[in-house]
Amino acid sequence: MVEYRLEVNGDPLEVSAPDHWTLLEVLRYRLGLTGSKQGCDKGDCGACTVLLDGKPVLACLTLGATVQGRSVTTIEGLLPAHRRAGGQGADPIQEAFDRCGALQCGFCQPGMMLSARALLNRCPQPTRDQIRDALSGNLCRCTGYTQIFEAVESCVAHSLGVATEPRSWEAQLAERRGKPVTP
Ligand code: FES
Ligand code: FES
Repeated sequence: MVEYRLEVNGDPLEVSAPDHWTLLEVLRYRLGLTGSKQGCDKGDCGACTVLLDGKPVLACLTLGATVQGRSVTTIEGLLPAHRRAGGQGADPIQEAFDRCGALQCGFCQPGMMLSARALLNRCPQPTRDQIRDALSGNLCRCTGYTQIFEAVESCVAHSLGVATEPRSWEAQLAERRGKPVTP
């Protein structure tokens, strides 16, 4: 066993866990923070992405003991951090994913939203290519990525006060099928 201190979602914590446990195991099985998903468990899918001192890392490839003294943000911490900063509702990136229908099963979403949050923190107005690049380590089996990229762009648009309403599912399906939307 190894004991160490870290900050998780703003809370200082002391953790005792087997030496070989990853940060993902510590979060899920010691701290009960199951928002970080255990997908491939070998660095391929990005479902376990968390922010370590504000930068996205794969928790399944990060040895727990190496985060001694560092600050971890999981998906559970996004909304409280936004509220502590004086915001209302959820973090704007969470609101944007909801608004744009950028999720289906939801398994990829915690990692996807944390990667997007990290991008917007360092680059508030990213291009589509920058968004694509920042999310390239997060795999989604369901959405086909378009709505996810649109959600990040919608988040930026809202922050600039130029928000547009998301297209309806009917409109999106009709566009894919090359047919007009029937009222
Ligand atoms: S669970 Fe960590 S990259 Fe897939
Ligand atoms: S919404 Fe299902 S994997 Fe992305």
